[in-house]
Amino acid sequence: MTERFDADVVRQAAAPRPTRFYKQIESTNDEGLLWLSEGVAEGAILVADEQTKGRGRLGRSWYAPPGTALMVTYLLRPAMGDLPRVGMLGALAVCETLEQLGIASAGIKWPNDVQIAGKKVCGVLPEARWDGGRLAGVALGIGLNVRIDFAATPFAETAVSIETALGRSVTRAEVLTALLARLDSWRARLGEPALFDTWRSRLNMLGKPVSVLNGVTPVSGIAEAVEADGTLLIRSADGTLERVLAGDIAMR
Ligand code: BTN
Repeated sequence: MTERFDADVVRQAAAPRPTRFYKQIESTNDEGLLWLSEGVAEGAILVADEQTKGRGRLGRSWYAPPGTALMVTYLLRPAMGDLPRVGMLGALAVCETLEQLGIASAGIKWPNDVQIAGKKVCGVLPEARWDGGRLAGVALGIGLNVRIDFAATPFAETAVSIETALGRSVTRAEVLTALLARLDSWRARLGEPALFDTWRSRLNMLGKPVSVLNGVTPVSGIAEAVEADGTLLIRSADGTLERVLAGDIAMR
């Protein structure tokens, strides 16, 4: 499908918030962090058709070919105590957007990957901006596969795009409009327990045997619970409870 996706289309899809569109940029999160320091209003977004230094979690790079993904950074200025919930807000908003589009099986792989039937469709990267010890805000980066056919790639078993899951075409503009509505809605409730509760109810590994790599030695056991700041609690075979703050989780 040929889709027009430029500054005008993005501005219209995101109105009336401040919007920046880039045909190509290193990373929308980098520009977003700078924009926060310049005092931009909450809810502003940056969108790119291609990133040359896109970042993922845990220091990884994140790349999608032009025309295939929605790469957006949403800017917010949360209270310090709400910081742990910003990533949850992103993953939850994406799940609800997918449902609105007609995808029933969206879930969250801890901490904040969004999956459709166990395959990753979206990654979320919240990054805080500190100016002299003061929190200037957070750049909430979201990379959503819209139209990549992973079938003949090494990622066939692990990744999926919206169009493959839906079996029909969607435009990035329509996905963006729906996503922003869900982001704005949960942003207004960032301090409420409902956000954590709803995020937790979407996690797809609670109660199951998992292995989390967050260093040299994997932590293995049953994913028993999550704490309000997102920390994962894993019950290992000898009965001890391990607390995991970050890492890559896999089903065993
Ligand atoms: C992950 O899966 O590890 C997170 C991926 C986040 C990618 C998005 S794309 C828009 C924003 N800009 C970046 O450089 N990264 C995020």
